[in-house]
Amino acid sequence: MTSSPYRVLCVCLGNICRSPTAEVILQHYASMAGLMVEVDSAGTSNYHPNKAPDPRTQQHAKDSGYDVSQLRARQVQAQDFADFDLILAMDNSNLADLHTQAQQLRAQNKAVNAQLALMSEHCDKYPKQPVPDPYYGGAEGFKQVIQQCESAAHAWVEHWQLTKTVQNKNYENN
Ligand code: 4NP
Repeated sequence: MTSSPYRVLCVCLGNICRSPTAEVILQHYASMAGLMVEVDSAGTSNYHPNKAPDPRTQQHAKDSGYDVSQLRARQVQAQDFADFDLILAMDNSNLADLHTQAQQLRAQNKAVNAQLALMSEHCDKYPKQPVPDPYYGGAEGFKQVIQQCESAAHAWVEHWQLTKTVQNKNYENN
């Protein structure tokens, strides 16, 4: 029997601060729970193609035990809407951009398989709150990103366990 992972794409604006952090944290929480989930990240913009995460993002992630240093930024592409099961936006502006792209793809009869949601969709500590953009601010903003991503990732894992969403994807059509 073959099985396929449940695929999640974390999305912010630049793909050098919030979404790489969300990617490694969500991947860590899902793997720790034994869920077959594959996480990637991308930006709605193409401001930093192929760049490593912002040095501040790398440092704060490292301080919290996460390694984002190997990730490289890329822009969201049409194929992502076909390939991923879930696309998680860091804030409402990212979510609105993703909904617009999904609508345009549907209008062109292109596949949109992904569900779109906020990273904080199920988070009880920051319910449906945006993960604030830390790029133009200080250290506190980067710490806040890690805290919110941890809380949100924990909530997604709980949600997947309750709903069996991941297992259902892993073993569908086999
Ligand atoms: P991110 O942060 O969306 O969390 O990666 C930003 C990174 C870069 C820029 C804005 C936000 N920028 O304007 O270059």
